[in-house]
Amino acid sequence: MVLARAILAALCATYPAFAYHNGLDITLFRRDLNSTDGGTYGDSTQWPAPLANGGKAWAAAFAKANATAAQMTVEELANITSGVIGLCSGETGAVTRLGIPQLCLHDGPIGARGVHGSSQFPAGVTVAATWDRKLIYARARAMGQEFRDQGVHIALAPVTGGPLGRTPLDGRAWEGFFADPYACGEASYQSVAGLTDAGVATVAKHWIAYEQETSRNLYFDYDGVSQAAVQLPISSNLDDLTMHELYMWSFAEAVRAGTSHVMCSYNRINDTHSCSNAKGLNNLLKSELNFQGGVISDWGGQWNSVPSAENGLDIAMPGEGFLAALGDFWGSTLADLINNGTVSEVLVRDKAVRLLTPYYYLGQDIDPLPSFVYNTIGSPTLNATSGYRNVQKPSSAELIKEIGSASVTLLKNTGSLPLKHPKRIAVLGNDATNNVLGQNACGLGNSACDLTNLNGTLTTGGGSGSALAPYIITPLDALLKRAIGDSAEIAAVVANSNTTIGAEDAIASLLPDADVTLVFLNRYSAEGADVPDLEIAGDGDNLMDLAVTYSSNVVVVIHTTGVVNIEKWVDNPNVTAILVAYLPGQEAGSGLVPVLYGDIAPSGKLPWTWGKSVDDYPPNGVTYTDAYSPQANFTEGVFIDYRWFDQKGIAPRYEFGYGLSYTTFGYSNLIVDEGRWAKDDTSVMETAEPFEMFDGKNSLYDVLFTVLATITNTGNVTGSEAAQLYISIPGDNQPVRQLRGFDKIKDLAPGDSAIASFPVRRKDVSSWSVVDQYWFVPSGSFVISVGGSSRNLPLNTTWTPQ
Ligand SMILES: *[C@@H]1O[C@H](CO)[C@@H](O)[C@H](O)[C@H]1NC(C)=O
Ligand SMILES: *[C@@H]1O[C@H](CO)[C@@H](O)[C@H](O)[C@H]1NC(C)=O
Ligand SMILES: *[C@@H]1O[C@H](CO)[C@@H](O)[C@H](O)[C@H]1NC(C)=O
Ligand SMILES: *[C@@H]1O[C@H](CO)[C@@H](O)[C@H](O)[C@H]1NC(C)=O
Ligand SMILES: *[C@@H]1O[C@H](CO)[C@@H](O)[C@H](O)[C@H]1NC(C)=O
Ligand SMILES: *[C@@H]1O[C@H](CO)[C@@H](O)[C@H](O)[C@H]1NC(C)=O
Ligand SMILES: *[C@@H]1O[C@H](CO)[C@@H](O)[C@H](O)[C@H]1NC(C)=O
Ligand SMILES: *[C@@H]1O[C@H](CO)[C@@H](O)[C@H](O)[C@H]1NC(C)=O
Ligand SMILES: *[C@@H]1O[C@H](CO)[C@@H](O)[C@H](O)[C@H]1NC(C)=O
Ligand SMILES: *[C@@H]1O[C@H](CO)[C@@H](O)[C@H](O)[C@H]1NC(C)=O
Ligand SMILES: *[C@@H]1O[C@H](CO)[C@@H](O)[C@H](O)[C@H]1NC(C)=O
Ligand SMILES: *[C@@H]1O[C@H](CO)[C@@H](O)[C@H](O)[C@H]1NC(C)=O
Repeated sequence: MVLARAILAALCATYPAFAYHNGLDITLFRRDLNSTDGGTYGDSTQWPAPLANGGKAWAAAFAKANATAAQMTVEELANITSGVIGLCSGETGAVTRLGIPQLCLHDGPIGARGVHGSSQFPAGVTVAATWDRKLIYARARAMGQEFRDQGVHIALAPVTGGPLGRTPLDGRAWEGFFADPYACGEASYQSVAGLTDAGVATVAKHWIAYEQETSRNLYFDYDGVSQAAVQLPISSNLDDLTMHELYMWSFAEAVRAGTSHVMCSYNRINDTHSCSNAKGLNNLLKSELNFQGGVISDWGGQWNSVPSAENGLDIAMPGEGFLAALGDFWGSTLADLINNGTVSEVLVRDKAVRLLTPYYYLGQDIDPLPSFVYNTIGSPTLNATSGYRNVQKPSSAELIKEIGSASVTLLKNTGSLPLKHPKRIAVLGNDATNNVLGQNACGLGNSACDLTNLNGTLTTGGGSGSALAPYIITPLDALLKRAIGDSAEIAAVVANSNTTIGAEDAIASLLPDADVTLVFLNRYSAEGADVPDLEIAGDGDNLMDLAVTYSSNVVVVIHTTGVVNIEKWVDNPNVTAILVAYLPGQEAGSGLVPVLYGDIAPSGKLPWTWGKSVDDYPPNGVTYTDAYSPQANFTEGVFIDYRWFDQKGIAPRYEFGYGLSYTTFGYSNLIVDEGRWAKDDTSVMETAEPFEMFDGKNSLYDVLFTVLATITNTGNVTGSEAAQLYISIPGDNQPVRQLRGFDKIKDLAPGDSAIASFPVRRKDVSSWSVVDQYWFVPSGSFVISVGGSSRNLPLNTTWTPQ
């Protein structure tokens, strides 16, 4: 029974609509909720809900939305703000009388989830490692087109800093970008812009301080017994400064870029559920960030009817969807609450306006989308008559490949790379090849394949942030194709090296004769569970023991959702190169192999710090407890990732921003150009963040000065360099340095130079004053450093505010 329920739960997690379509009794997972809110941050008298006005960009759309909503009856208002049964991950109720269709909300951040005929894009962490704003934008734009072509009005993407990367154990941080607010903010901005330009509504998620999966209180657990009665979700307890300087930063960028919606998270903040947290939603998000769109609950993240209505939630998901198994708190109940005067009609009308404004702004009314077809594996609708639809594009495949190449991060190279036309190549590791059960057999759910399955090359993590791969060009596929040109011999052992009989002998006889041994390792993780440790998956450790024993030229490629422990062999001289290829999506091999052979010099850099052990990171990264009200105290404050390593003087294995190339770069001629003051022209929407110098003319996002540095290719091959700017803000208890700029200089020929440019905005040199409740530029001397990583900063100067 327990096993049966576990399988059922996994299926429902993987294919939400699957459960519905197959008539499974998912009411097994219905939780019995008490409707009280808990905590002291759910007080809407202290933090009242602001009404939307459309903001800077959405005036015309707002007027339309406001006029439409004005005509809606109470029943219609309640219908449109709560989920109804449908094929998408979530759908809002239609108002047919006024021409408003059911809007389709669908996962997720790497493409249309579970939908055949869609691309599997590289994960957030992968595109982050390119440090290339243009590629980040292009990925979002291409992905947005596919969502729209599949009939998705509202893409449940991007992940804009929830999780941000407080701990390397987080099971789904790979869905997001960098463990740094500035860089994550830049990626969030570009991603919102790309999706929006494709005409699809965005959902910046998950608001906020959502940094662990453990005890997040997913709507069911895997033995089918509801957790709600025994445990509330984890409470992230953090101070106001950390909230502003770390966790809100990238959401502010998503809002500035014009995100349509924001998703509130499963966790509580200071004991109050995120989706009914008046301080978080009404005050910080809707007032301070002046957010004009809708707040959508994570699926099952709503816990009550009245507090969520008053404290900032706008759209309840999935509502009646999934047979209301996750709690149907609004819908007809909300209509009753309005009709009997408990909840304000004006407030609910505002929710409808917040949903409809982006719909009009994106022109989804005048250029209607095709109807969504949930044609997933096992779905009875997957045939031509029922509407199989393929929206893949050759240009998307090219882009996926380009991002794959540009993200590959070279950690170590004692000279074996680039490969110099090796004649005899040994390949080890199941990660080099296909999943023995087909490319989509695992990776979507949390237990679709068991531990012993040979899962093949890892191209995505699991959970709602995954997408089906229409095909996978494996590393081995691409290597074979490439090696033919050299008339090479290539042999691969892709069995389980410590359970398959004969595998060790095969390796022992193969390796000594090979010119190079390529070892493919991986580590998978998924939404719903944190990783217990940083160990490499499967037989990876055994494989490395064998590789270094029998080969003195071992090149390691790692596909991973995050940091893994490589300490046992990183310094072994037989390991001549190590590359991280993250989660590259469907073009895994075709992105990687040109880098191995030197057609493209590696230029990816780490989007987080690679520690030697989990103990190097802030303690209590994941709180494990059976307590009814679990608590995670963010006592490290703003000191996560490199800030922590710098403050504590801990030597990482590889620092934040690190990555080698086949060439080298020189840094010179640092200039702080105060003549380049520029009024903010990047805020599509304007936030209302308070700051000290506010006079009605200044903006927090005005460029105060621009830092310039000359980057010279001092090596022998063409290469690209992600130049980075760090600022040390004066004052007590400040991080040693914080990333405040990056500029990817592309395709620099040997001997050539280019100028990297870093516009520095008022916010980039500001601190948050908890006492005054505004951003201010501290007095004193700011150290400005430029270089190739957070610990390789050859240039520095100082800047003092006037
Ligand atoms: C929005 O609609 C309401 C009626 O629902 C109306 O009272 C209000 O004036 C409208 N606001 C704007 C700015 O048009
Ligand atoms: C509520 O939404 C459902 C599903 O879209 C629709 O069939 C129904 O007509 C709507 N009810 C009202 C009162 O608009
Ligand atoms: C909610 O229900 C749980 C389980 O019955 C109970 O332990 C808890 O005290 C209740 N919480 C409140 C605030 O009533
Ligand atoms: C959480 O509570 C602490 C005090 O316990 C308070 O200082 C802080 O501002 C609160 N955090 C947020 C985000 O409201
Ligand atoms: C209002 O309606 C709700 C939902 O039906 C009900 O629970 C509540 O008791 C009602 N309140 C009043 C004052 O009638
Ligand atoms: C296609 O799928 C639909 C929905 O399951 C089914 O009714 C129909 O018979 C199928 N058509 C074919 C040709 O298999
Ligand atoms: C294969 O994937 C499943 C999840 O589907 C995971 O539990 C298992 O550990 C993976 N196996 C290996 C060897 O990584
Ligand atoms: C294979 O190796 C892995 C990791 O090195 C280990 O966890 C597992 O127990 C080994 N299996 C066998 C059968 O030795
Ligand atoms: C390196 O590989 C050679 C075989 O090529 C082996 O003899 C030697 O022991 C290995 N060295 C280490 C440190 O593993
Ligand atoms: C979290 O902080 C609170 C307030 O300082 C303290 O009472 C509690 O014991 C802490 N919880 C944990 C798990 O450290
Ligand atoms: C570049 O090539 C020159 C001449 O072939 C060689 O001496 C030098 O070591 C090379 N430099 C690098 C960085 O590879
Ligand atoms: C600035 O650069 C100089 C020269 O490389 C170095 O000695 C100094 O420590 C640097 N200062 C800071 C604050 O990094």
